[in-house]
Amino acid sequence: MINIYQLIGQFVTIGIIVYIVFKLLYTLWSCWLGSILGFGVEWKGSVDNWAVVTGASEGLGYEFSRKMAQKRYSVLMISRSEEKLRKAKNKIEAEFPKANLKILPLDLSKAGNFTIFEETIEELENIDVFINNCGVSYKYPEYFLDIPLCDQVIDNLINVNVIAVTKLLRIVMPKMVVQSRGIIINLSSIAAVSPSPLLAVYSATKIYVDFLSRALSKEYKSKGIVIQSLMPGYVLTPMAAMRKSSMFVPKADKFIDSVLRTVGIEEQTQGYWAHKLLVFLQKSLGHTISDYLMMVWVKDVRKRYYNKMARQQARKAEQLSSNNKKLNTN
Ligand SMILES: NC(=O)c1ccc[n+]([C@@H]2O[C@H](COP(=O)([O-])OP(=O)(O)OC[C@H]3O[C@@H](n4cnc5c(N)ncnc54)[C@H](OP(=O)(O)O)[C@@H]3O)[C@@H](O)[C@H]2O)c1
Repeated sequence: MINIYQLIGQFVTIGIIVYIVFKLLYTLWSCWLGSILGFGVEWKGSVDNWAVVTGASEGLGYEFSRKMAQKRYSVLMISRSEEKLRKAKNKIEAEFPKANLKILPLDLSKAGNFTIFEETIEELENIDVFINNCGVSYKYPEYFLDIPLCDQVIDNLINVNVIAVTKLLRIVMPKMVVQSRGIIINLSSIAAVSPSPLLAVYSATKIYVDFLSRALSKEYKSKGIVIQSLMPGYVLTPMAAMRKSSMFVPKADKFIDSVLRTVGIEEQTQGYWAHKLLVFLQKSLGHTISDYLMMVWVKDVRKRYYNKMARQQARKAEQLSSNNKKLNTN
C-alpha cells in the first residue's frame, strides 16, 4: 500500500518526465521535422528576388548572405568596411559563381546614413528577405560604470542595436506589405532571455529587439510577413571571441543551417538545439540559481580578459626593453 507522499512523488516524477519528453519532441519538431515536412517558409530565391543582410562582412551576417546566395537570392550585403565587404563578396562568388551580390558600405550607427539605405532599397525590385543582423556588444563583460569609454559604448549600442534595427524595418517593411510577402529575421540574443549582468546595456538592447519583433509579427502576420526574433547563445564569430567550436558554441555555418529550418515555424527561437537546451536549463534552475551561476561565469570571462591584457602588456614591455638593450649595445 503506497502512502500519500509516495503518490505525490510518483506524480511529480511522471510530470517531470512528460515535460522533458515534450520539450525534446518540440525541439525535434522546430529544428528538423517541421521544416522537412514543409511547415517552414518557402524560400523563393531568384535574380529578381532580393535578400538584404546587415552586418554582412563577417560572422553571422556573412553566413546568412552565403546561405541566401546558395538559395539563389540576389543579396545586398551591408556593413561599414568596403574592403571587408569586397572580400566577403569574392569568397561567396568563388563558391557560387552565378550569385548576384551587391555591397553597400554603410555605418549604421549614424542616423544620416538611413537615407542612403532607403535610396538603395528603392532600386531593388522585390525584397523577399531582410536579415536585420547587425549588432554590437561590449568588448568584454564589465560593470556598467567601469566600461572603458562608457558614453561612446552606450551611444554605439543604442544607435546600432536599437535605432538602426527599428529604422531599417520602417524602411524595408512597406515594400513587403505591397508584395504581401516577406521574411524578416531580427537578431536578438540569449542575453535577453533574462537580464545579463556585466552586459547590462547589450542585454537591454536585445530584449528591445525581441519585443519589437514579436509585436510586429502579430501586427503584420495577416499581411504575409513572417517575422522571427532570433535569440542565440554563443556562435563561433569574431564577436564571440572564442577559438574553438563546441557543442554549445557551434560554427556559424552549422548554426545558420539550423536557424533557416526554424523560420516560419517559430516566432521566437534560439535557432539551435544546444542553445534551446541552455535556456531550458536556465529556466528549470529558477532565477536565484541561474542568476548566481551567470554572475560567476561573466566574472570569470572578465577576469580572463584582464589576465590576457596583462600578459599582452608584459610581453610588450619585455620586447621594448630588449629593443632598448640592443640599441644601447649598438
Ligand atoms: N556571435 C554570437 O555569439 C552571438 C550571440 C547572440 C547574438 N548575436 C547577435 O548576432 C548578430 C551578429 O553577430 P556576429 O557575432 O556575427 O557579430 P560580428 O562577428 O561582430 O560581426 C558584426 C558585423 O557587423 C558589422 N558592423 C559592426 N558595426 C557596424 C556598424 N556600425 N554599421 C554597419 N555594420 C557594422 C561588422 O562589419 P564592419 O566591421 O565592416 O562594419 C560585421 O560584419 C549581432 O546582432 C549579435 O548581437 C551574436
